[in-house]
Amino acid sequence: MLRANASILVIDDEKNIRRTLRMVLESEGYDVLDAATAEAGLDYLTEAGTADSPLHTPPVDCVLLDLKLPKMSGMEALARMQTHEGSGETQVPVIVISGHGTVTDAVQATRLGAYDFLEKPLDRDRVVITVRNALARSKMEREVGRLRREVAGRFEMIGESPQMQKLFAEIAKIAPTHGRVLIGGESGTGKELIARALHENSLVATGPFIKVNCAAISAELIESELFGHEKGAFTGATARKLGLFEVAHGGTILLDEIGDMSLTAQAKVLRVLQTGELSRVGGEKVLKVDVRVVAATNKDLAKEVEAGTFREDLYFRLNVLPLHSPPLRERLEDIAPMVNHFVREFCRENGFRNKVISPDVLQLLERYEWPGNVRELKNIIERVVIMSDEVITPEDLPETFGKQNKPLMDLDRYRDRTLREFKEEMEREFLLMRLEAHDWNISRTALALGIERTNLHKKLKAYNIQRQ
Ligand SMILES: Nc1ncnc2c1ncn2[C@@H]1O[C@H](COP(=O)(O)OP(=O)(O)OP(=O)(O)O)[C@@H](O)[C@H]1O
Ligand SMILES: [Mg+2]
Repeated sequence: MLRANASILVIDDEKNIRRTLRMVLESEGYDVLDAATAEAGLDYLTEAGTADSPLHTPPVDCVLLDLKLPKMSGMEALARMQTHEGSGETQVPVIVISGHGTVTDAVQATRLGAYDFLEKPLDRDRVVITVRNALARSKMEREVGRLRREVAGRFEMIGESPQMQKLFAEIAKIAPTHGRVLIGGESGTGKELIARALHENSLVATGPFIKVNCAAISAELIESELFGHEKGAFTGATARKLGLFEVAHGGTILLDEIGDMSLTAQAKVLRVLQTGELSRVGGEKVLKVDVRVVAATNKDLAKEVEAGTFREDLYFRLNVLPLHSPPLRERLEDIAPMVNHFVREFCRENGFRNKVISPDVLQLLERYEWPGNVRELKNIIERVVIMSDEVITPEDLPETFGKQNKPLMDLDRYRDRTLREFKEEMEREFLLMRLEAHDWNISRTALALGIERTNLHKKLKAYNIQRQ
C-alpha cells in the first residue's frame, strides 16, 4: 500500500494528552490514531495492515505509549508489542511517555526495546524530533533488511541433484559444530559458496566472514596478512597492522586455495589450529583468537602431502570434515534450475523484465562439458541475458557453443541395423581413426588400445581394413 503520510498511534488514557499530541503530529503532516487503553492499542496493532482486516486499518509506523495506563500497564503493552513478530518485518518503533518523576521506568522501557522516551509535561519540539528520528531509523532498518535479503539471494545455493541434496544435508549437520572443514572440488564449483553457507548456519554467524586467497598473496606477505605485524617489523611496516585471523575473531576465516600456501605460513597456521594462539610478525605478545577455520582447495592435498609441498600434520588438522563440491558435468539436472535462477537474477540486476528461455537452449547447455563449472555457466547466462531479446534462443549462445554441442553422431543412420551390426561398424570406424593417429604402426596402436598385437591383426583382417 502506497501511503503519503506516516501514521502514528497514540495510546494514552488522558484525553487532553491525546488531543494535544494529535494536534502537534497532524500539523507535522502525520496521520494520527489514538486509543485510551493498552488493550485497544494492541487490538489496533494486530488488526493493522493485514489485507483481510475488515476495517482496512492502515499499518502503524510509530507508537507513542503512555506507561501509566488503567488495567494493562504500558510496560506490559510494550513487552507484548516486542514479541508480536508481525510478518518478519522490522518492529514498529515505540516511544514511551512517562509521568513526572518516573524517568527510571522510562529508562527501563528503553532497555526492553522502546526506541526512546518523552517526559511529561510534553515539549512540542522534542515530540516532533523524537518521532521524526524514530521513523527515520525504522525506515533505515527496513532498508537494511531488504539489502540483507538481497545479499542472501546472491549467495543462494541452487541444486536439485542428489549430489547437491546430500551436500546440503552435510552442510546442515556440520555448520553448527566446531569441526574444521576442508572443501575440495574443481574451480568454479561453488566452494566459496559452501564456506559462506557453513558460516551463515554456524554458531558464529553473527561474527565476520573473512576470506583469504592464499594463492594471490606472495609467500613474503602471507604471514603479515594472516597474523598482522608490529610497527617496524620489517621495511615498509610503518604502522601496526592487524592480521586476518584477528579480524576474523568471533567469526569464520576461509583459507581459500590453501594448497598454494608456503610451508612457513603453513607452520604458523598449524600453531593457530593447535593452540588458538598467534603472534604478529615482529611481535612478542601471544594473542588468543577464536575463529572457525574453513579451508578450500582445487588441488588434491593428499598428493601435495606426498610430494612434500603440504604439511601432513596440517592436512590432518584441516581435513576433519571433508566436503566435496561436485563438478557441474556430473549433475546436469542442476543446470535448468540454475539457469532459471541466474536469468532471474541478472534480469533484476539490469532492470529487465524477466526473460524467457527457450527449451532448446537448455538442451544445448545440458550437453556441454562445463570445464569452468558453475562460474562458466553463470558468466554465459549474464552475457546472454544482456544480449538477447525477450526470449533467449540458441542463437544468443556464444558461437563455439553450438559447434561443440553437436551430437556425437547421427544415430538415425543406424535405425534399421542390429546391435551387432552397429557395434561392428563403430569398432571399424574407431580402429581406422586410431590407426591413422598412429601412422598405421600396429604395435603402437595396439598398445594405445590396450589389446595384443595379434588381436589387432585379427580385427583388421575381419573388418578387411587395409592402409589406403
Ligand atoms: N550451487 C550454486 N548455486 C548458485 N550459484 C552457484 C552455485 N555454485 C556456484 N555458484 C556461483 O558460481 C560462481 C563460482 O562459485 P565459487 O566462487 O564458490 O567457486 P569456487 O569453487 O570457489 O571456485 P574457485 O576454485 O575458482 O575459487 C559464484 O558466482 C557462485 O555464486
Ligand atoms: Mg573460490
